Amino acid sequence: MPAPKRASSEPQTFLTKWGLRTIILLLLIWVGTWLDRIKERWYVFDPSHLHQLAQAAIASSPNDTAGMIQHIVSNLTRTYPSNQVKINVDSSEWVFNNAGGAMGALYIVHASITEYLFIFGTPLGTEGHSGILSADDYFHILVGEQWAFSAGQLEMERYTPGMVHYLPRATAKQYKMHEGCFALEYARGENERYAGWIPLMVPFGLADGLTSTLDFITLYNTGRITLREMGRNLFIGKI
Ligand SMILES: *[C@@H]1O[C@H](CO)[C@@H](O)[C@H](O)[C@H]1NC(C)=O
Ligand SMILES: *[C@@H]1O[C@H](CO)[C@@H](O)[C@H](O)[C@H]1NC(C)=O
Repeated sequence: MPAPKRASSEPQTFLTKWGLRTIILLLLIWVGTWLDRIKERWYVFDPSHLHQLAQAAIASSPNDTAGMIQHIVSNLTRTYPSNQVKINVDSSEWVFNNAGGAMGALYIVHASITEYLFIFGTPLGTEGHSGILSADDYFHILVGEQWAFSAGQLEMERYTPGMVHYLPRATAKQYKMHEGCFALEYARGENERYAGWIPLMVPFGLADGLTSTLDFITLYNTGRITLREMGRNLFIGKI
């Protein structure tokens, strides 16, 4: 008779199913925690080297933004072997970026899962919300000025060429690149308690494109370049 059979096997299947799901969930949490704990091992770039590099680039090419960018890229390719980290040397590969109400252009110098390095800026000036990033952000001013403030501050912070504007993860500011500004931006996932991962920053980077500018060509190119660079890095084991 089928009825009593079902009655006796149903609780068992139920238990097996939920037991398995719980085990898978615990495994995922364990892997996630473990990856989060060891992710410093994957950092290649060093904030103090990048700061010196930004300052050296400014000193070696005064009034020449393209020269500064060349200086940075050629130093990075000479400092890091191409089997350790991939640098995008095509400095003509710029895309627009709209995020937090601000607009500028990006040249993606490096993108991997745990770190990214951009040249970001605009010659026109822009202003907006920094975004609440899931990674620590170092904004090295090359040209122009960046102004910023956090809610509650009554005076602005002012960053000039050679300075770094450090934005720890999970903080937010209003910022303004007053009369145009270009910067070398470095972000890395860092925090122990929260997963500080570059992919978690992507929604902020894309939201304005999806809901406001509808510039799908820019979105497509940004996604294409980012995934290409992440892929090139993953391929050599740079997470
Ligand atoms: C790269 O830049 C840093 C900082 O300016 C400098 O100390 C280092 O010598 C440079 N390396 C190369 C290979 O140019
Ligand atoms: C850079 O530009 C400023 C302002 O236009 C000028 O005063 C200065 O002499 C320039 N410096 C060089 C090295 O060209």
